Amino acid sequence: MTARPASLQSFWMPFTANRAFKQSPRMLVAAKDMHYTTDDGRQVLDGTAGLWCVNAGHCRPKIVEAVQKQVATMDYSPAFQLGHPDAFRVAERLAALAPGDLDHVFYCNSGSEGVDTALKIALAYHRARGEGQRNVLIGRERGYHGAGFGGISVGGIPANRKAFGNMLFRVDHLAHTHNLKENAFSRGQPAWGAHLADELEQRIIPLHDASNIAAVIVEPLAGSTGVLVPPKGYLERLRQICDKYGLLLIFDEVITGFGRIGPCFGADAVGVVPDMMIVAKGLTNGTVPMGAVIARRGIYDAVVNNAPQGTIELFHGYTYSGHPLATAAALASLDTFEEEGLFQRAEELAPYFEEAVQSLREMPNVIDVRNMGLVAGIELEPRPGAPTARAFETFLKCYENGLLIRTTGDIIALSPPLIISKAQIDELVGKLGDALREVGRNP
Ligand SMILES: Cc1ncc(COP(=O)(O)O)c(C=O)c1O
Repeated sequence: MTARPASLQSFWMPFTANRAFKQSPRMLVAAKDMHYTTDDGRQVLDGTAGLWCVNAGHCRPKIVEAVQKQVATMDYSPAFQLGHPDAFRVAERLAALAPGDLDHVFYCNSGSEGVDTALKIALAYHRARGEGQRNVLIGRERGYHGAGFGGISVGGIPANRKAFGNMLFRVDHLAHTHNLKENAFSRGQPAWGAHLADELEQRIIPLHDASNIAAVIVEPLAGSTGVLVPPKGYLERLRQICDKYGLLLIFDEVITGFGRIGPCFGADAVGVVPDMMIVAKGLTNGTVPMGAVIARRGIYDAVVNNAPQGTIELFHGYTYSGHPLATAAALASLDTFEEEGLFQRAEELAPYFEEAVQSLREMPNVIDVRNMGLVAGIELEPRPGAPTARAFETFLKCYENGLLIRTTGDIIALSPPLIISKAQIDELVGKLGDALREVGRNP
């Protein structure tokens, strides 16, 4: 048992039902490999890699030691007009991992900052090439691109937008790709839906004119909205249209990066090379906040070479861009992924994971199960008059029973650390099935 704080009132918790939580708190106090420990001493199997970030499992020795060593050696180094060696090393490693000629890395501290950074780079790129009028940004319905104004503007989750009227105004959205009638219980990428990308060419480009559009930003697999797997051919088609009209294609790989759905990035899984990728979360295995935008060489060259020699080329950055603790954690995380072959391991486990999660279609109220790599979404029929209640009750039951899942609306998302064993996959699915049966007894 770990003592609880005397009061829980002052902490305003993010994306949390504060009043309900504070009446009945769920406190985590330790973590190791596949498990959290709660403050009442229970072990909880981590079915979500924290928040989609702890891809190598918790408190991995190499990462812990690297951060401990770094904090005692150089706690902080200014990010502007000075550098430190590991920031360059991590950038080289990311450039080597990224597809195509995506080989320049701009650091930030989160996915949200990564999104803002990528959108600003897109605008700066077009301006540097003499096409500064290209400032319309295209996102997608149901997209999640973090909580900053840039991210909620191109994002498409209504609850994240409706209270915050002042957003970027030159924005449009593609339709999302979710369709239960066509694609329910798809295994891997669904066959139906590539044509949805044509909306870019058939509606959006004629409406705004290609000469005004800067970029299209999508998650290769939309995670936070409830696991929408890209239809076969859809991202390929977006790439073709962007190429045809000179639009930059940005993949937000904050969830999909580092082995979650493919050899390393979502881009690799679908064989599409975007112009920029945003990464965060798994980059440091969740240990230290860090994000990055990986841009194609031509984007860097256009912005940097078009500025006068000796001047700052891009007026953008953060006090903690490339923070020494973050770069230490990133290097050790990338080493751990590589030494343990975790991306390959995830690919090898994916068929087993698929069989296991697809078996949940037999459970009460399940209207869809979808999966790709080590991600699954289980969609429940909402309880009449009480949307989200069924999934949240399932979350609570699982937590009581020693399993961490994540829910968005009435969709359950699973994204375990890539070190999960087959026995732990069975345990995860077994406990989730028990919870679904129990919740299913309430009408
Ligand atoms: C695709 C995507 N982009 C951006 C973000 C925002 O990341 P952060 O919470 O680190 O700001 C998230 C977070 O879940 C995400 O899933």
